[in-house]
Amino acid sequence: MPKLLVARAMFPDELVRLNKYFELELNQQDSIFSPEELADRLQGKFGMICTSSAKINQELLAKLPELKIISTIAVGYDNFDLQACSQYRVMATNAPDVLNETTADFAWALMMATARRVTEAEHFLRAGEWKKWGVDFFVGADIFGSRLGILGMGRIGQAIARRAAGFGMEVIYHNRSRLSAEQELVAHHARYVDKETLMRESDHLILALPYSSETHHSIAANELAQMKPSATLINIARGGIVDDVALIAALQNRQIAGAGLDVFENEPRFHPDFLGLKNVVLTPHIASASERTRRAMVNRAITNVIAAVRGEVPPDLLNRDAHTF
Ligand code: 8YV
Repeated sequence: MPKLLVARAMFPDELVRLNKYFELELNQQDSIFSPEELADRLQGKFGMICTSSAKINQELLAKLPELKIISTIAVGYDNFDLQACSQYRVMATNAPDVLNETTADFAWALMMATARRVTEAEHFLRAGEWKKWGVDFFVGADIFGSRLGILGMGRIGQAIARRAAGFGMEVIYHNRSRLSAEQELVAHHARYVDKETLMRESDHLILALPYSSETHHSIAANELAQMKPSATLINIARGGIVDDVALIAALQNRQIAGAGLDVFENEPRFHPDFLGLKNVVLTPHIASASERTRRAMVNRAITNVIAAVRGEVPPDLLNRDAHTF
């Protein structure tokens, strides 16, 4: 039987689908493998199911002549060097669509928590500092009737935009390419603007674009300086999209009002100065974390490896040129 590495702990009752096709090597203790250990464990394997924590590059693939597929449970695949995968004829797959709505929900949760200072107020209460109520007590910014900006208008961006209908918001967006008129209509009449207009005019700006060398530090000092002092910035995409040092300075100087961050440069490490700021809401990369969605993500990765072992084209194949069957 072909061998498969499941590189992180995952719902065992979902993994049983794999038993018919593979001899499995599991990691239910959920260790994070070093590059050397990952290379060792992948020796002789047909494939791997992994998460964003597995870095797949030329150096690793050169050691693995038998490897045919790497299948991530994530939609983002910036941890895969796709060119190297194609060069070594390793199929790479991701898990799109199944997490759109859950991730959009969380973007809204962060936006609302940031605008209305929910975690700051809770810390205040928990610290026993609540002695009296005041008229300007934790005043924040309105969501209702404000202008929502979205940078990156793919499937998750569009799901975020649709939710604006219930809050009487205007939606503006910037994306590599403009959506069709019909897509814009469904995305709560989203209006395409250039990036500078997006920065200047958004009351709440949500980042939902993929990470790549082109999008690295898309939000840096220059962009932050264009934002309204009352604006909030929400990142549910990838850490490297924002220059964290520039963001910390902008939050310290009140150049923007607040930020809601689910992702960080170099996570799970993050810049310690975030902890000293009151005007941030910080979460540990959990935007897709509902049980139903996480199970769906794992299942999508399972479907991709089963298709590969059956000699079919995996439904979420990212590099068609690696398909060798
Ligand atoms: C994942 C994500 O939870 O899908 C993505 O791109 O960022 C998250 O939904 C995480 O990356 C899984 O590895």
